[in-house]
Amino acid sequence: MKKKALITGIMGQDGTYLAKLLLSKNYKVYGAYRRNSNYENNRLRKLDIEDKVELINLEINEFNSVEYTINTIKPDEIYNLAAMSFVASSFNQPLYTANTNFISLINILEVLKKSKKKISLYQASTSEMFGNSKNGFIDENTHFDPASPYGISKVAAHYLIKFYRKAYKLECCSGILFNHESPLRGEEFVTKKIVRQLCEILKNKRKYITLGNINAKRDWGFAPDYVEAMWKMLQLKKKEDFVIGTGTTYSIKEFINLTCKYLKIKIKWIGNGINEKCINLENNRIIIKISKKYYRPLDINYLRSKPLKAKKVLKWTSKTKLYTIIKEMCDDVLSSMN
Ligand code: GDD
Repeated sequence: MKKKALITGIMGQDGTYLAKLLLSKNYKVYGAYRRNSNYENNRLRKLDIEDKVELINLEINEFNSVEYTINTIKPDEIYNLAAMSFVASSFNQPLYTANTNFISLINILEVLKKSKKKISLYQASTSEMFGNSKNGFIDENTHFDPASPYGISKVAAHYLIKFYRKAYKLECCSGILFNHESPLRGEEFVTKKIVRQLCEILKNKRKYITLGNINAKRDWGFAPDYVEAMWKMLQLKKKEDFVIGTGTTYSIKEFINLTCKYLKIKIKWIGNGINEKCINLENNRIIIKISKKYYRPLDINYLRSKPLKAKKVLKWTSKTKLYTIIKEMCDDVLSSMN
């Protein structure tokens, strides 16, 4: 009998790569999505799995909808990837963020608590939970100090998982994933914004890019590597939480420098802080400006993982280097522009 997996948030970057992985492992994959005006299955189409996944309309904030879906499908594994995942928006939508990222998880856990079938649950936790708690390496024992309504909602959900695992012996766990990028990354996230807009500058379709805090550092991995870790976590007999990252960190500015290097755009930086600018040396034009508009009320300045536990227990390590990720992302955008 084929194993059955239910992925919430199927239309997102991670949902799509995970569906592809599970299909390759011969799972029957059910993909839950929220019905809204901009139904987008272009990622599934891009990976050519649109017809291989059974799509289900699910409202995760409605208990009845969650209960009906889980009890009808009776999956072996659930991957809860549905979320309000854009940190910047969470400052203006704290309630919506809390409902989607935290309250809705109670719906799933309560259904699993009552279920006769043993169903494993993966919860998408995040490095945003650590906030600015540490300037060094971060692991599973690092203190949480979230710096956004998004981070707070994810900490709350993280504790829910721990609680239901301890109190009711549910087979659930959290993957604390650091940033992970790919050609399927949403357009609003900084890596995709930089890649797309630099490609547009290269093709004379744009004059400049406006960014916020370019000194923040992130631990960027490759999304297809990270969904493998999700799957490995649910295969463990004893469920545990894991930090998943590369162990390296780069600033947004370094990400820009590497992208320019790949695109062969020669640049120099001038000025400081809000007045910092990036100049295209070929024509002396400003191609990057900084604006307060993209600053967050509170930001995380430094994230760097120590994924030792994942290496030891899951036999998982991040395989793809940042320059390769940049190459993949640039090639994808450039090919769509031709
Ligand atoms: N989005 C965006 N746009 N970010 C900018 C910009 C800009 O124009 N300019 C500077 N930044 C900075 C942000 O202030 C932040 O410090 C950093 O770039 C990364 O921002 P995002 O790419 O939006 O990602 P994130 O780190 O906030 O969150 C992502 O990673 C988390 C894992 O750590 C998201 O995918 C989260 O859902 C995920 O949990």
